[in-house]
Amino acid sequence: MDHNTISRFITITDVEECVDNILGSEPLDTVARRLQLSASEISFFTYSNVLRKLLVWKQLYRLREDVDRFYSDQSQHNRAAPPDNQSPLHLEAFEKAFKDINDACGRPFGRGRINYFLDMGFAPGGFSTWLLRTNPDANGVGITLSPEASRIWSQVDPQFRPRFQENHGDIRRLAAGDISINVPLGGFDLVVANVSVMLNENGLEWKDRVHLVYAQLVVAFRYIALGGSLVISLQAGPFIYIVDILDVLRQCFRTTRAVKPKFQRRRSIAYVVCQDYISSDDTRRSFLRRLELGIQYLGRTDIHSDATSGTSGMPRISGLTDERLLNAESRAYIVSLLEPVWQRQLEAIQEHYQKILGSGNELAARGTAETGTVAAARAAAAAAAYPGEGIIETTTLSGHEGKAQA
Ligand SMILES: C[S@@+](CC[C@H](N)C(=O)[O-])C[C@H]1O[C@@H](n2cnc3c(N)ncnc32)[C@H](O)[C@@H]1O
Repeated sequence: MDHNTISRFITITDVEECVDNILGSEPLDTVARRLQLSASEISFFTYSNVLRKLLVWKQLYRLREDVDRFYSDQSQHNRAAPPDNQSPLHLEAFEKAFKDINDACGRPFGRGRINYFLDMGFAPGGFSTWLLRTNPDANGVGITLSPEASRIWSQVDPQFRPRFQENHGDIRRLAAGDISINVPLGGFDLVVANVSVMLNENGLEWKDRVHLVYAQLVVAFRYIALGGSLVISLQAGPFIYIVDILDVLRQCFRTTRAVKPKFQRRRSIAYVVCQDYISSDDTRRSFLRRLELGIQYLGRTDIHSDATSGTSGMPRISGLTDERLLNAESRAYIVSLLEPVWQRQLEAIQEHYQKILGSGNELAARGTAETGTVAAARAAAAAAAYPGEGIIETTTLSGHEGKAQA
């Protein structure tokens, strides 16, 4: 599929027909190879119709030049924001996202149910604001990069400061024991891990991305209370290291589900909500040990491979072989967990595709030559249709484990 064919689509039906054609005319593993999927993704691609559609739609979406322009305009817009930009847009969007996550799980985190929470990557502070507001007796500890390093400031309302300790530091250093935070006796009853959302924008490599996820898991396992909950944002693609993590979470918590709030809906991100931590100290120790081994592996300077081969050689936290992680039972579990997230992302991409095609057709109908100004106006109009998604939607486009992994 090339840019020329894709640029000739006029209506969403053209795209739908093309997707059906791609999926219907060749064996699935040939299509999967063309999409350059990893072995783990291929085993899910041949199993889940929703994932198949999502990955082909994504490919046809990201190859369009006007989609590309839309994201680079958004990215430019974000970069142009003044460094001390304190607009509440993102704070409010994250606050609303946490409300959505809570609603999707039967509201376990509000109305005074939380006493002590830890929020990793807390700034600008939407999640913590929601937790402090809806749990009037809760105390929180947050850790995030310093504003100098991240250009993201805490906007947690000063009224909450007596109940919220803000720490600046790299989560990897906390996991390594180089810095510390205050931990309540018995641990936190809720741990939130949302550091890995904007990594592509920060130009991090796959190794750093996986390292950040592992570091957050180390901190979570170290400080979570028995019976506690973990909300962690993870890539929604069925990469082998994600399948491994989901297996571990399934073993450690009584319930695990994946949620996709409206915010960030086109991104390949799932919020995995795990409730009722049940691991014994021995199990906790063995997962912590394997996470450390994984972090050491990632730190080795001789891994120059891409994410696909790099993550395929990593020690697994679950201690299971890849064959076992991808067996029929495990695959059925992962699909039941992630398919609703894939479906929501697919619908969001289809919706945006339709908008992009609609505005292109409108311009063509008016016989307007597309100048930079018109393109920018169109991107701004499209962005206005998705308020609050700007900072993170810019990194939506990469698809598989071998690329940048959005
Ligand atoms: C998407 S934002 C999180 C938004 C937040 N959950 C909220 O509710 O407002 C990601 C955060 O992770 C932080 N971050 C990125 N890398 C980090 C690291 N290595 N250690 C600690 N925080 C990090 C960023 O500075 C940013 O504040």
